[in-house]
Amino acid sequence: MTVIYTIQWLGLLLSAAILGSCPTPALAQTQIIVTPDLPPAPVVGGTVTLTPQPPPPPNATLCGWLRQSRTIFWHLLDQEQPSTGSSYTGREVLGPGCSLIIVGLMLNYSGSYTLQVQGPGVFIFRGVNLRVYGKLARPTVMSRRTTVPENGILELFGERPPSTRTLLWYRDGTVLRLDGHVEMSPGNLSLLLARVRRDDAGNYTCEVRNPISTARSEPVTVTVTYGPDAAFMNPSGLLSLRLGDKVTLRCAADSVPAPQFSWSHSGSDLIPAPAGAVLSLVLTSAEQAGVYECHVTNPSTGQNATASVSITLRLGQGPVQSQPGQTGGLQGGAITRAVDAGIIIGSLAGTGLLIFVLYYVLCTQGKRDPRLEKDPVAQQGAPCPAGVQEQPPLQPVRGQQCCSPEPRTCTRS
Ligand SMILES: *[C@@H]1O[C@H](CO)[C@@H](O)[C@H](O)[C@H]1NC(C)=O
Ligand SMILES: *[C@@H]1O[C@H](CO)[C@@H](O)[C@H](O)[C@H]1NC(C)=O
Ligand SMILES: *[C@@H]1O[C@H](CO)[C@@H](O)[C@H](O)[C@H]1NC(C)=O
Ligand SMILES: *[C@@H]1O[C@H](CO)[C@@H](O)[C@H](O)[C@H]1NC(C)=O
Ligand SMILES: *[C@@H]1O[C@H](CO)[C@@H](O)[C@H](O)[C@H]1NC(C)=O
Repeated sequence: MTVIYTIQWLGLLLSAAILGSCPTPALAQTQIIVTPDLPPAPVVGGTVTLTPQPPPPPNATLCGWLRQSRTIFWHLLDQEQPSTGSSYTGREVLGPGCSLIIVGLMLNYSGSYTLQVQGPGVFIFRGVNLRVYGKLARPTVMSRRTTVPENGILELFGERPPSTRTLLWYRDGTVLRLDGHVEMSPGNLSLLLARVRRDDAGNYTCEVRNPISTARSEPVTVTVTYGPDAAFMNPSGLLSLRLGDKVTLRCAADSVPAPQFSWSHSGSDLIPAPAGAVLSLVLTSAEQAGVYECHVTNPSTGQNATASVSITLRLGQGPVQSQPGQTGGLQGGAITRAVDAGIIIGSLAGTGLLIFVLYYVLCTQGKRDPRLEKDPVAQQGAPCPAGVQEQPPLQPVRGQQCCSPEPRTCTRS
């Protein structure tokens, strides 16, 4: 690829007298006026030509080029060959009209180039800043920590591979701009959020661009920990149930990471502690009425919240038969016998959700032993009557929908 830069004279002609007395300040005052933005951009491996425009005047006697103030060429125009200076690398050619051609560009050929033309009444300095672009390598994003508490500090550090022109930051694909909330260092190398908000969580990437390529980093997932500010119970408020009714209490809270749940009944923790957000219970005695509270804690933030429901007992018998939709939660879960009263903790496969069931009644009427139904003493776990032998309790069955977790069974010997 060939790129021709045109250098416009600014008419910055300095008199020989001034130059004779102090040439060095004149060099120091050189202005760079050609922007490197002109498309097409010079690329690694390509060729660039820097052409003075208009051409040097006919009475010029000397023309030369410098790179970073070191001579590449020095051409006395009445001689055939130019002399090379200390900055000549073998890739430069002096072309017609004192133009400079550089072939086989490399990134390190970027920098400032200065044209110098002299003659009687002629003294011209003109600088151009050359930027050579290569295909950008994929940048990386670094950070000290990516899990940040709400109102904490998030700092991400990007990378500017050689020949990067622009560095942009993205969150979930949207470019971030400087505002009161988002700060960036000069050149955008680092990104700073001094008071992180919940909606700052997401995937951050940094993107580097130059005129010939774009490269984007792997995303860095930023987690903002917060909450819970409140807990919610469904159903909530006041719940009036009849004996035999079954109810499922669901507790929820907005919190990152997901909160831990614990339950209490009328001020006492439920033992064993149900660990899930769902509590299922069957109302079989008046003691089960009262206030059920769900306590939500986020160990990461130290915050906690509570929600409650108040259950009162209503007269009349509720349905004894369990409702299929509600027992379905136990299906496929590991069922373990917890205490003698027959508490079942079911873990929903896949979700890890624990369902806590206070289960005092037999599940299906078809499985009931008619003798037991007539013998409430045996059901309540009192000692077996005389002549009745105690049998070991039924073991829970993994993967089955229901079970008979009655405390024990008595048979006549
Ligand atoms: C750029 O680096 C190469 C070696 O990698 C060297 O041969 C060349 O002279 C350097 N060019 C400049 C302008 O410094
Ligand atoms: C040389 O050319 C410049 C610009 O064209 C002019 O200003 C200057 O007077 C000329 N010098 C002589 C000696 O003719
Ligand atoms: C810095 O990022 C802003 C967008 O927030 C962009 O407009 C600007 O060009 C970037 N500057 C650099 C030097 O990459
Ligand atoms: C962030 O990236 C992860 C995987 O890298 C992905 O699972 C998640 O959905 C992404 N989040 C957003 C908000 O794009
Ligand atoms: C709940 O938060 C309060 C402060 O809001 C704190 O005093 C209390 O110890 C916390 N309780 C638990 C169980 O973490």
